[in-house]
Amino acid sequence: MNILILQGSPRAKGNTAWMAEEYKNAAEAAGHQVTIVNVAKKKIAGCLACEYCHGKGEGACVQKDDMQEIYPLLAEAEVLVLASPIYYFTLSAQIQAPIQRFYSMMKPANVKKTALLLSSHSPGVYEGAIAEYKLISGFCGYEDMGIVTAFLEEQKTDATKQKIIELIKKL
Ligand SMILES: Cc1cc2nc3c(=O)[nH]c(=O)nc-3n(C[C@H](O)[C@H](O)[C@H](O)COP(=O)(O)O)c2cc1C
Repeated sequence: MNILILQGSPRAKGNTAWMAEEYKNAAEAAGHQVTIVNVAKKKIAGCLACEYCHGKGEGACVQKDDMQEIYPLLAEAEVLVLASPIYYFTLSAQIQAPIQRFYSMMKPANVKKTALLLSSHSPGVYEGAIAEYKLISGFCGYEDMGIVTAFLEEQKTDATKQKIIELIKKL
């Protein structure tokens, strides 16, 4: 399957990046095609709510920022993985912006399945991010393939790697 991972941490060698890489490695080993986009390194503004996309734009966003590189990847993706650090009990702002910019396409049309990778300092801080992920996945009619979380002592461990591998087995 064609898998797109949106990685929302600015730390290129951080815990979220590690989870995204492990997902990519395991998915590629299973024969899938995987692209990781570090959206935290992109210039992606929030939605302007101008409705250009739903009128004159015919699905195209009026803002010509780095989201323009991501729209074609979203249009092709069959599996969408959101990978984010927990910032103040929710997804990072860097990943919220591209998610909200889905608005011009309403929902990425080829996506069938989704997964969520979260890292945090503390345990038990995932409720907000998971609720948002499940609401969006449900709204779009996607199948949730599972969630892996890793707080401090679970980060970059074989146990977390194994949980990520289990997600891919379900694809
Ligand atoms: C702005 C900010 C807010 C954070 N908020 C939380 C939080 O609410 N709960 C928590 O457990 N960790 C919080 N953290 C810690 C990160 O979630 C944690 O260090 C995570 O593993 C970072 O992922 P990364 O290594 O991929 O950047 C926060 C970190 C930052 C920079």
